[in-house]
Amino acid sequence: MLQQIQQSYNQISTREWLESRYQSYCGKNGSVTFGFKSLKGLSPEEKQVQWPLLKEAKDLVEKLYQQAESEYKRAEINAQLLNDPIDISLDTVSDRGHWHLLAQERRHVEEVAARMGMHVEYGHDVVTKYQNFYSVNIPADHPAVEMHDTIYLDRKDEFGEYLVMRTHTSAHQVDYIRRHGTPLELISVGRVYRYEKLDASHDSAFWQVEGMVIDRHVTVEHFISFMTEFLSALFGEEKKIRLRPAYFPFVEPGFEIDVNYNIGTKEGDDNRLELLGAGMIHPNVLQEAGLDPNEYSGFAFGIGLTRLVAVKHNIRDVRLFTNGDMRFVKSF
Ligand code: PHE
Repeated sequence: MLQQIQQSYNQISTREWLESRYQSYCGKNGSVTFGFKSLKGLSPEEKQVQWPLLKEAKDLVEKLYQQAESEYKRAEINAQLLNDPIDISLDTVSDRGHWHLLAQERRHVEEVAARMGMHVEYGHDVVTKYQNFYSVNIPADHPAVEMHDTIYLDRKDEFGEYLVMRTHTSAHQVDYIRRHGTPLELISVGRVYRYEKLDASHDSAFWQVEGMVIDRHVTVEHFISFMTEFLSALFGEEKKIRLRPAYFPFVEPGFEIDVNYNIGTKEGDDNRLELLGAGMIHPNVLQEAGLDPNEYSGFAFGIGLTRLVAVKHNIRDVRLFTNGDMRFVKSF
């Protein structure tokens, strides 16, 4: 009988079948149940022989039923998981992502600028040579246009000139002036690209923050007070700036701005960080954007955001920002 029971389970292929097979043995009218009932009519000797056999049969039926039943259950759960991969009962430690350090700083800059009432723009990474160079007073024969520090695309613009990965966020100055008009107060944050020999302080892509303020009668004095306030807000402490003369084709006069900083240095040290290029917007640029330079003036600046973050957090190799090393990413 045991063998027969065992065999009868081998063919079962559905849960319903399993259920009805169980009933046919141990249900109300099942054969094993019937066997137990019939014990009553037997002599004590016969009972002693029959009872253990019946008991064994019943145990086997129960065991086979439980086994098959738990397999069906497992299959059901697996099927459910396939349909709905989110199992809230699963006890795991989740590995939540967070903003990359550069993205955190970019958002911080945007917040500071927005609080100062400035527009925030992003531009785009691929621009024309007109945007990147000519519109901001860099003529075609200027050294900066040469291949060696510019990454070109294998595609041309409507004038038959190769598109370029913008080498600076100044590429959008004229677009922005045309689009927003005056008075203008705007920053533009984005990645810029240069064909560099890579080392600890040079990567082929880095972040810049471009800023522009244009109105009637904007002077260098406005620039100095604006920049002091902006940089103090960025660093979260009062900053002093120093202007040094510098040349950029799209400003006149042009400055390089140093900021005092004390990160990773002894107290009392007079450390200055060269952080940005700036200047009064060149009349040619204003004119290109349709403004009369006799009526309007303004200043522009370009901050190396990657540099700023590196200094703020004492990061000695800027390549860490982009090489995807999760130990670095997770530590901020
Ligand atoms: N575009 C310049 C650079 O990338 C920075 C700059 C911006 C300088 C605006 C002056 C005014 O180096």
